[in-house]
Amino acid sequence: MCGIVGYLGPQDPKKVIIEGLKKLEYRGYDSAGIAVLHDGKTKRIRAEGKLKQLEDKVLNENFNGNLGIGHTRWATHGPAVEKNAHPHQVGEISIVHNGIIENYLEIKKELIERGAHISSDTDSELVAHLINEEIQVTKDLLLAVQKTLSKLIGAFSVVVLWEKSPNELVAFKDGPPLIVGINEKSSEYFVVSDVQAALNYTKNFVYLEDREIVHIKKEGIKYYSALGAPLKKQVITLDWTSSQVEKMGFKHYMLKEIYEQPHAVASALQPHINMQTLEVNLNNVGFENPVEEVLKKIERVMFVACGTSFYAANVAKYLIEQLARIPVDIDIASEFRYRKPMIPANTLLVTVSQSGETADTLAAIRMAKEKGALTLSITNVMRSSIDREAHGHLYMNSGVEVGVASTKAFTSTLALVNLLAVQIAKARGVLNKDAEQTCVKNLLAVPSQLEMVLAFDKYFSEAAKKLKEFKGFLYLGRGVSYPIALEGALKLKELAYMHAEGYAAGEMKHGPLALIDSKMAIVVVAPTDELIDKTISNLQEAKARGGKIISIGSGENLALKSMSEYYLSIPEANWMTNPIISVVPLQLMAYHMADSLGFDVDQPRNLAKSVTVE
Ligand code: M6R
Repeated sequence: MCGIVGYLGPQDPKKVIIEGLKKLEYRGYDSAGIAVLHDGKTKRIRAEGKLKQLEDKVLNENFNGNLGIGHTRWATHGPAVEKNAHPHQVGEISIVHNGIIENYLEIKKELIERGAHISSDTDSELVAHLINEEIQVTKDLLLAVQKTLSKLIGAFSVVVLWEKSPNELVAFKDGPPLIVGINEKSSEYFVVSDVQAALNYTKNFVYLEDREIVHIKKEGIKYYSALGAPLKKQVITLDWTSSQVEKMGFKHYMLKEIYEQPHAVASALQPHINMQTLEVNLNNVGFENPVEEVLKKIERVMFVACGTSFYAANVAKYLIEQLARIPVDIDIASEFRYRKPMIPANTLLVTVSQSGETADTLAAIRMAKEKGALTLSITNVMRSSIDREAHGHLYMNSGVEVGVASTKAFTSTLALVNLLAVQIAKARGVLNKDAEQTCVKNLLAVPSQLEMVLAFDKYFSEAAKKLKEFKGFLYLGRGVSYPIALEGALKLKELAYMHAEGYAAGEMKHGPLALIDSKMAIVVVAPTDELIDKTISNLQEAKARGGKIISIGSGENLALKSMSEYYLSIPEANWMTNPIISVVPLQLMAYHMADSLGFDVDQPRNLAKSVTVE
């Protein structure tokens, strides 16, 4: 979490840094700050709250240096107040930091013993102290950073500015991403947490690996290992445009991203479907051997992910077990990494992560690799840390997802796990060609089914208005709709700050029925499938106890409609593709509720998009 921008170049650093931070605000929005050189001195301005507060504060400030660093914070150590905002300045050194210094208490104690005055509650400030101590001795920024890096334990990325050296930045990382942007023509250099922050200025980037240091000077860039060995790094040219991160007339990024889902799902599917033969082909995921050969040997599949990505993994379990008849385990990454999991031989471990940077998921894939698993990552951000770690790669191809609440990445992932289920089933010889073609046809129908759901947005918005009257929400589903109920509840919690729980509909009588009264809404995900009658029976039990039902059903399901306060219709689809379609009304209802309550939909309180701390 936290967004970092460092800039060296001929433009006004204030402008470039603030513009970059705007693109990174999704990473944290508790406070923000910049430090820019002016008349050879560091001028630091920080503000509590969103970036806008900082923008207002620096509006009339002028800086004449070529160098600056900026930061948007998601608080870890210490509350979101100005003294804890970055950059942290100690003497001639200013730093911005993303991540956690795990040995900070030890460092703090030693610094205090040496007479340091600590002015914030953060672990970050201590890094500035350490570098400032070293620079007094070395008078060399690179050396001071190298010496400091050897004292730090944790997950961090840091950019350092030394006011004595107006054309130099040093940055390093061990964990959270840090990417160098280079525009040789205009002699501009950037160090950013995400390429989006520099895309307006360059398409050429170098991704730093853990414990690498970049030394940026006006004359050029050099890379070093933590021990000071020079490194050769590859410059990657991206073909992304910054317009992909604009709102394009939508009120919020989230709404735009919900509406992009037909296209996003089609883009996820397209690289892996042969339109002539209607066959699935995952040969392009990058495994060393042909995919069928690889998957034939697999005896177990394990999915590891967090949040919405974990719910996508839940859906994958239903799809892959039922279609391919192979055991599938699912784990929340933060649990998986510490429960000493058994990873049997011939396991395919799949991670799902929109950002590709989630710290726990990254740790999980590294651990699985060490234990000999074959790994496959499903990510949206190409060349993200998790993507770079995996043996095989599936891309959501959703385009940049800015809204903190994940939407299009979820539905694109569901499309990809459909493909994975088909490919594994084929490799195991349990899916004939006709059945495969049927699966593919069902998938190809999804983008237009999504368009149909979106065309009914006004009904979801009306339902959302009514739903505000309830004090709590139970989201129910069975089979593949159960994870969709979990996802619906998460969307409502994170956006509208309302208490919502997802439950397997069959579990109601084992406890949650006690919650039911006239203020408790029951939102049921009940598209037509082989479990629909059982779901309806569970709803009868809830209705008999005064429960108010809001249902999502396929076409005109009269039985469901007659028992519901609101019935929201979605197109008839297949059991495997139903989840991709049935989640959209839940996304839209949560969106409209939050918006009408006046909440910040794109940046819900206390959250961040990319969770790079554990
Ligand atoms: O980038 P990832 O998919 O790894 O992120 C995982 C979760 O942090 C993320 O899905 C989170 O739960 C979203 N805010 C949900 O909308």
